[in-house]
Amino acid sequence: MKVLGIVCSPRMGGNTEILMKEALQAAQEAGAEIRLFPLADKKIMPCDACGACEETGICIVEDDMQELYNALEDADGIIFGTPVYFLNVTAQAKAVIDRTYAFLRTRKLRGKVAAALVVARRIGAGQVLSLLYTFFTVQRMIIAGGAVGYGREKGEVVHGTGGSPVFSAMEEARALGKSLTRMVSKMKPSID
Ligand SMILES: Cc1cc2nc3c(=O)[nH]c(=O)nc-3n(C[C@H](O)[C@H](O)[C@H](O)COP(=O)(O)O)c2cc1C
Repeated sequence: MKVLGIVCSPRMGGNTEILMKEALQAAQEAGAEIRLFPLADKKIMPCDACGACEETGICIVEDDMQELYNALEDADGIIFGTPVYFLNVTAQAKAVIDRTYAFLRTRKLRGKVAAALVVARRIGAGQVLSLLYTFFTVQRMIIAGGAVGYGREKGEVVHGTGGSPVFSAMEEARALGKSLTRMVSKMKPSID
């Protein structure tokens, strides 16, 4: 049972990464093999609409997305993490979303369990959760829910609230990792 955490922040070690590590640790404790995939040191170009993947299911753009394609294919569960930027996902997240166009025809993401992890300073988290849920649905993924954390400066999220004010951001992240892993094991009971 493999769980992949993609951190779509340009800030290495930032709030999204902190919460993702918490979610992945909970996933590991629930029995998953985990992989953290931060995009801050990766180069992922936008989709250039060349159309090559429509025939082959393979993207011909040679960049770090090739490594992420392999990681996505390998994963049973995927936590997609992004900070809110202008009430939207980051440019890094949008590049990844668009580049999964290569997986549309071949349905390589179909049936994988997906969850959203969103960090905001103030507003837009609900909207970004909805955007990610729409992406998961288009790719025929099974949605395990989402978590929100509030914080601005690097590390603030450790003491930030979650989407629900009665839970901390760290508690929400932990619960997300656990519930996604439980859902994966229900979907694929033969996987240990
Ligand atoms: C370009 C930019 C746009 C942002 N837009 C929003 C926004 O619309 N709403 C919000 O609540 N926070 C916004 N923020 C704040 C970030 O979401 C916040 O600082 C978050 O903790 C960053 O996560 P990170 O440390 O993982 O990069 C923005 C930050 C930047 C740099």
